[in-house]
Amino acid sequence: MTTHKLLLLPGDGIGPEVMAEVKRLIAWLNAEGIAKFETEDGLVGGCSYDADKVAITDKTVALAKAADAVILGAVGGPKWDKVPYDARPEAGLLRLRKDLELFANLRPAICYPALADSSSLRREIVEGLDIMIVRELTGGVYFGEPKTITDLGNGQKRAIDTQVYDTYEIERIARVAFDLARKRRNKVTSMEKRNVMKSGLLWNEVVTQVHNSEFKDVELEHQLADSGGMQLVRRPKQFDVIVTDNLFGDILSDIAAMLTGSLGMLPSASLGATDPKTGKRAALYEPVHGSAPDIAGKGLANPVAMLTSFGMALRYSFDMGKLADTIDAAIASVLDKGIRTGDIKSEGSKVVSTSEMGEAILQEIQALHA
Ligand code: IPM
Ligand code: MN
Repeated sequence: MTTHKLLLLPGDGIGPEVMAEVKRLIAWLNAEGIAKFETEDGLVGGCSYDADKVAITDKTVALAKAADAVILGAVGGPKWDKVPYDARPEAGLLRLRKDLELFANLRPAICYPALADSSSLRREIVEGLDIMIVRELTGGVYFGEPKTITDLGNGQKRAIDTQVYDTYEIERIARVAFDLARKRRNKVTSMEKRNVMKSGLLWNEVVTQVHNSEFKDVELEHQLADSGGMQLVRRPKQFDVIVTDNLFGDILSDIAAMLTGSLGMLPSASLGATDPKTGKRAALYEPVHGSAPDIAGKGLANPVAMLTSFGMALRYSFDMGKLADTIDAAIASVLDKGIRTGDIKSEGSKVVSTSEMGEAILQEIQALHA
């Protein structure tokens, strides 16, 4: 059996609590001989700043590059509001994305039937929802230069962020979206703001070209990102795969998360290009929710997004899709039984702690596996 090397970066806030549930699952998989994972823990975000005065050390980045996959909890919190900008917790995550060239961020929003009433939208709007947001992750305004605040000397300051995309960046993310659509319901919706942004014009043009030359069999639709956001809450089931840039993808995926009942339900995979020689692909898996400092350390956090992020690692990095399906089925069944963390509680449900939820899911996985 192949040994897979994982770097675990629990991070800040609720990160360590939800990561503990992944560790519980990994320990069981190893003990049962279902898989062979070798894990190492590292620091990223505020905890790394506390230890080493940087949001991530070069050594940890090197470990991430050497690992078969990185599993990350969450970064950030008010404790680090005043640290230097370059050392802020988020910088650790952004550096990992950039240095590992994780340009494709997959954020699936799936509404489990049992949770349709937890969404802020009506059951019929979200029930059975299964969409995939593909967010470009290493370009655009989060990384573009110049990125500055200048003192104009007249009592005014000027802040500049740069939205920039090259053809190749749009081509490769479009290909990821079209490829995924082929394995799903064969439809891609591309979102940009071509009515006001040059980068939107180029985005639209390049996605259309890639479609024409390589993916004619897939249905392609274009929406302006603002109207797309509106459609996401109006009639979300019209979408299959949405492909969009870094900034719009950040916003639209948080919106999509709420369709599923809670931000605590949304996993993500950040993938690099596959190396044609080794077949290896850099990958980082993390829940979309943040570090939730307000509930950290209290056992209140929902571990589902963290567990399904690990499930995405099984699916996309280790070709263990069946095991990932089992995790999804176990979660659906635990939710069906009314076992819930506080964020997704409903009338008559049994509210449990983070570790009780993780334990219940593992028991169900064991039952399904037997
Ligand atoms: C996300 C987060 C990050 C982002 C932050 C923590 C830098 O919000 O993964 O969506 O903005 O990309
Ligand atoms: Mn975000």
